[in-house]
Amino acid sequence: MKLPQAVRCVFTAGLLFVFSWLRGADATFTPLAIGTSGTMREGVAIFLPEGLDAANLPYTPTLVEAPAIQDALPKDWRLVPTFSSDGKRCRATVKIGADDDLYGGGEVTGPLRRNGTSITLWNTDNYIYETDEGRRLYQSHPWVLGLRRDGSAYGVIFDSTWKAELDCGKAITFTSEGPAFPVLVIDRSSPQAVLQALADLTGKMALPPRWALGYQQCRWSYYPDTRVREVADEFRQRKIPCDVIWMDIDYMDGFRVFTFDKIGFPDPARLNAYLHERGFKSIWMIDPGVKLDSGYKVYADGCAQDVWVKTAAGQDYHGEVWPGLCAFPDFTRPETRLWWSGLYRDFIATGIDGVWNDMNEPAIFNVPGKAMPVDNLHRGGGEIPAGPHLRYRNIYGLLMTRATREGIAAVQPEKRPFVLTRANFLGGQRYAATWTGDNSSSEEHMKLGVPMTLTLGLSGQPFVGPDLGGFAGKATPELWSQWIGFGALFPFCRGHAAKGDNDKEPWAFGEKVERTARLAIERRYRLLPYFYTVFREASITGLPVMRPVFMADPADLSLRKEESVFMIGADLLVVPQWSKKTNLPKGLWREITLVPGDREDRDQARLLMRAGSILPLGRVVQNTTENSLTPLTLLVCLDDAGRARGQLYDDDGDGFGYEKGQYRLTTYVAQKHGGRIEVKVATRSGQWTAPLPETRVEVVDGNGQRKTGVFIP
Ligand code: NOJ
Repeated sequence: MKLPQAVRCVFTAGLLFVFSWLRGADATFTPLAIGTSGTMREGVAIFLPEGLDAANLPYTPTLVEAPAIQDALPKDWRLVPTFSSDGKRCRATVKIGADDDLYGGGEVTGPLRRNGTSITLWNTDNYIYETDEGRRLYQSHPWVLGLRRDGSAYGVIFDSTWKAELDCGKAITFTSEGPAFPVLVIDRSSPQAVLQALADLTGKMALPPRWALGYQQCRWSYYPDTRVREVADEFRQRKIPCDVIWMDIDYMDGFRVFTFDKIGFPDPARLNAYLHERGFKSIWMIDPGVKLDSGYKVYADGCAQDVWVKTAAGQDYHGEVWPGLCAFPDFTRPETRLWWSGLYRDFIATGIDGVWNDMNEPAIFNVPGKAMPVDNLHRGGGEIPAGPHLRYRNIYGLLMTRATREGIAAVQPEKRPFVLTRANFLGGQRYAATWTGDNSSSEEHMKLGVPMTLTLGLSGQPFVGPDLGGFAGKATPELWSQWIGFGALFPFCRGHAAKGDNDKEPWAFGEKVERTARLAIERRYRLLPYFYTVFREASITGLPVMRPVFMADPADLSLRKEESVFMIGADLLVVPQWSKKTNLPKGLWREITLVPGDREDRDQARLLMRAGSILPLGRVVQNTTENSLTPLTLLVCLDDAGRARGQLYDDDGDGFGYEKGQYRLTTYVAQKHGGRIEVKVATRSGQWTAPLPETRVEVVDGNGQRKTGVFIP
């Protein structure tokens, strides 16, 4: 039977449609050969698809130095990407071993082990991670870390800033909505070695001021300034250690950035002085959106200097945020960044200690996807070519924090700048610390904070933590208490609360929870010398401050999915009370107590110390302006051979003297001789002349924890 022509056409078209639908978008992707490849240094290779000129690579801020090929690719190099393109989009695929475990990808929800996950790299204001089921968040990290069964590891950087998809399936597939890009592959003996190579390539967090390691208190918003004073006073009266109070958006005059509300915050300098006198620092928010108001100096200056992002038609783009319609600085332009940096001069002069850059995806209200049109124009300049928002959205936040950091540094060159950012990109640890955005006061988000923070740490960002207690929604006393019981040990440690939600300060839930909070925060303060030592290590090596347990034993497969327990540095394990069926690293880990009553408090995380290590501890202080090393305690936990080793890094806590040798890095060793334990200084470097701390020793062993007297350093 012969079918009529029209029916045959429809039938054939239908078949073709089903066929191409079954094959997905791949049908349109055709292979691109590798044009250039080679190693940049040992264990680090770069691959460029044909058509990409090694001497003229597309701009991204990811690498600290332009990639330079040193040698031909070794014959036995294992991971070679394949490239393909559909004429518009470009894809790179890296085949992995069937048993490999994947991690990284930056700020993500979901499990720590990323096999079988897929995310979109498109910085998005994602309130309680609801949009797209949390598959895209505030930051983008085109980066995957892989672990083989034997504990050796690799990492892949897809060096593109365009909107992209990152799939971790049988292969790692990165599909960019932009043109061809380089792929860098690191292949080394351990995850630690891969992360160090990542940091060598993408840069390290600068050593933060010591105060930024203390407990910090925020809410949206403490208003007016008398409320800020009250909160600060409560901390001191109740003897709950705290270093920073945060000023959220309501301090501004009608949400105009770089202004102060005349009624609520008439004298910010006086408020800052008040806080400083009581040992607090203050951090104030600055968003990117600048209110359209010709009588407002920042807006008028911005217009005069033509700093704004443009529409595709070349007009200033306007979008709505807190203040109503706003213009948005185009941070791809060097002139704009300079202008923005300059705005911090008078602002910081009021005694502000740190800056919080929020909403810098940038978030726009009342438009689809909370984003400006993808064809909006960024004009670029210097090394950055002009390009559409589709290319530059993911690095808008990074470039903003770069300008912010430079602005603060210009006003206070003698101090270490502190910037917190919501949006960022791979390599952005060079400019700012971060938090995981708008989580909710739920058990699910309390637990999620652990893999989220770990994953950012495995993606180059060591200074991170979630809003403790949860930002959105009502926190119950039980939840908040559990949360602070382990959350006080995140690298970035800040309690926060959304507008309209219940108060979430440590005392807001009654006496019992307040006691738990005090104990948890006091533990953090006892550990500050150790934290500071680990932060300093992170600033030099790029290793995370908070680490997944698999880093303690990368060949132990039972640790690969463990995402409720974490380590601070290499020697301290934190086991939240809610963590059940926990997989801990093998070897001896002994439980420790840091403040009287902490082991009896049912919401405090269990703290386990690695046998063979020495932890430097301070005393409990109310803030870091007090010297906590009076005395220094060395907590010694001997291994089977009766030995232990540990380090203490110390310096002025702020400023850059340490870069010129004004620090002290001490390595302590302990050795058991019969019934006696000898503790001594093995090495000491740096030329810091501050008096040596009086030092005591405590030993942790099978008999518990006991003081053994004074040790003369
Ligand atoms: C969104 C931020 O994520 C949140 O932390 C802040 O409180 C609000 N913006 C208000 O500024």
